[in-house]
Amino acid sequence: MEKRIAVIRGDGIGPEIVGQALDVLNRVAEQFGHTFTYADAPMGGCAIDAYGSSLPEQSLKTCLEADSVLLGAVGGPKWDHVDKENRPERGLLRLRSGMGLYANLRPARMFPQLAGASPLHPDVVAQGIDFMVVRELIGGIYFGEHRTESVGGEEVAKDVMLYSTHEIERIARVAFETARKRRCRVVSVDKSNVLDCSRLWKKTVVRIAAEYPDVELTHMLVDNCAMQIVRSPSQFDVLLTENMFGDILSDEASMITGSIGMIPSASLGDGRRGLYEPIHGSAPDIAGQDLANPIGTILSAAMMLRYSFGMAAEADAVEEAVCRVLGAGYRTGDIWSQGTVKVGCKEMGARIAREIKR
Ligand code: IPM
Ligand code: MG
Repeated sequence: MEKRIAVIRGDGIGPEIVGQALDVLNRVAEQFGHTFTYADAPMGGCAIDAYGSSLPEQSLKTCLEADSVLLGAVGGPKWDHVDKENRPERGLLRLRSGMGLYANLRPARMFPQLAGASPLHPDVVAQGIDFMVVRELIGGIYFGEHRTESVGGEEVAKDVMLYSTHEIERIARVAFETARKRRCRVVSVDKSNVLDCSRLWKKTVVRIAAEYPDVELTHMLVDNCAMQIVRSPSQFDVLLTENMFGDILSDEASMITGSIGMIPSASLGDGRRGLYEPIHGSAPDIAGQDLANPIGTILSAAMMLRYSFGMAAEADAVEEAVCRVLGAGYRTGDIWSQGTVKVGCKEMGARIAREIKR
């Protein structure tokens, strides 16, 4: 197969981790007889510096014309002073919405080799952690009106959270479909004891659930959910939630698996084209020092193979390679523990690439 991939290297550690993921994709292409071509699409702080915009028109076009998009990370303190309409993060939000990517899948899965890196009690970890956060990605408070004004001599800020029925219906379907391929259980997370958005959310999810009688649906308030994730993560299969709750809960879910550096994500819309990125940020403090963990990005590339290209065997080969390298005891700094071998970003990437076999 021939696939064209738009590549957003981004800021901070972005270029380093993306470099390793591209080496992995090239190894997959070589082993399985595919041709992958790459088109750079500058976005984030580096695009502000070079083109004066965090998402230049041409970059959006490159992404829309590609079969899929691979992204490292964007942002950093250097661009903190930039006008809010053009912050690096705005570029990312415009890209997600410009590509119509309403469904963000974030697997929280613990590699058994990393059980020791989880901050949770070993008895809790022993029950296993393997759930999927399905986060609504282009609605809610992220995309409502944001405004700061002066009222009665003081500043007043507002951010509007807004959901319409069709936005909830389509993300609910993604969650139920995802559950069908897993253990057939969905927990829908909301704050329906306070928010109208959450009441509409819950009502709509219940209605859509009727189309999926084989999937069990339960509801959880978001504060309780934050607690349950650390108390008993094995209870979750698919966790369905709105944009901002999903942002917060997915960071929590990633940390209990050992490190946020391990977790990939897929952002999908109605077609097969997706945006694949690790869930961590650009980590400017360690950028350019060969310290970053490339596994989240490499596993994001594996999700791209699986979801956008329908290459399940290739995706399995990448995930197995990651397992083997961890099994052999190699670790980047964020997942290192006594008795394991510390390696840099490049060596971790190279070892994984080498392990990929047809
Ligand atoms: C994420 C990030 C982004 C988000 C930021 C960078 C805008 O935290 O992908 O989780 O909040 O969605
Ligand atoms: Mg986040």
